[in-house]
Amino acid sequence: MRCLVVDDEPRLRRVLVRLLEGEGFRCVEAGSGVEALAQLEREPVPLVISDLRMPEMDGVALLREVTTRWPETAVIVVTAVAEVESAVACLRMGALDYVAKPFHLDEVRARVAQALDKRRLLQENRNYQQHLEERVEAQARRIEELFLEGVHALVYALEAKDGYTRGHSMRVANYAAGTAAALGLDAELVDTIILGAELHDVGKIGVSEGVLHKAGKLTDDEYRHIMEHTVIGARILGPLMRDAPGALAIVRSHHERLDGKGSPDGLKGAAIPLEARLVSVADAFDAMTSVRPYRPSLSVAHAMDELKVWKGVQFEPAIVDAFQRAFPETAALPIPTPQLQPLRLPVRAMEARRA
Ligand SMILES: [Fe+2]
Repeated sequence: MRCLVVDDEPRLRRVLVRLLEGEGFRCVEAGSGVEALAQLEREPVPLVISDLRMPEMDGVALLREVTTRWPETAVIVVTAVAEVESAVACLRMGALDYVAKPFHLDEVRARVAQALDKRRLLQENRNYQQHLEERVEAQARRIEELFLEGVHALVYALEAKDGYTRGHSMRVANYAAGTAAALGLDAELVDTIILGAELHDVGKIGVSEGVLHKAGKLTDDEYRHIMEHTVIGARILGPLMRDAPGALAIVRSHHERLDGKGSPDGLKGAAIPLEARLVSVADAFDAMTSVRPYRPSLSVAHAMDELKVWKGVQFEPAIVDAFQRAFPETAALPIPTPQLQPLRLPVRAMEARRA
């Protein structure tokens, strides 16, 4: 290991060099702080032993430079007995130890060994902290993956039970994303809306298959049972989606109506979360333009007219207008079922997890 010995007295320098070389160090010498800095700039060393009182640049100024520019270098200061206060000040500034003159060689050996041990521990600690940060980040990523895997498992389970819902949810997510963009909503909110739209009907997992697939008209009880999917979905996803309240609001409130006659809470107007008001338009349009076991699909033009008819009653007018701006080409509608995309978490939710 290399060592830099700094002292303006050549005799003392030589004593230290001989001692350290006896311990296996390869030493370079400097007669002042300025010379020492020049040496370090040429080749940094792991250990510096420096006198405090020197011409040009003293040991304190040298220590300040070394701890700032070469934080991996261990510094031991050599002081006169009367300079204990300066020695303590040096320890505060980052010196790892000090040796008082006149010194015993054994004492110097012990201090050097101790300082190098401290240096090694400091380095290990620094590495450990760096790895810890990496590990925390990797775990945060894993938690996100587990969250999405959990949500995916629910979506797949529903898909197995009701093939219509997945295609429907993907199309609703696309309609909702286009409408959100036409309204100029920010990217984070668009991500929330996409996630919520893809999951909005997940509660149908808890609806009996007989009712879900019934070809004829539903009785009032059956209709009420189907409409429970909003509450069931919110209950299932609630613990998983504490960090994505906007998406959860879509699951619970996408069947609310502007006039307060919707379900499950009968929310009215602005009391319905914006995300849910938006998805309800996309949801209704896709439901109307899809063939269901109990009825044929409406034409696109007819579905667009229905949205206009229910503007201000069931749907928010500005959202219907944005929907129609975003999807003006009736010839290209309804959109085909999009490819299965990996679910995306809203940015804010991911950041909250990291924090
Ligand atoms: Fe629904």
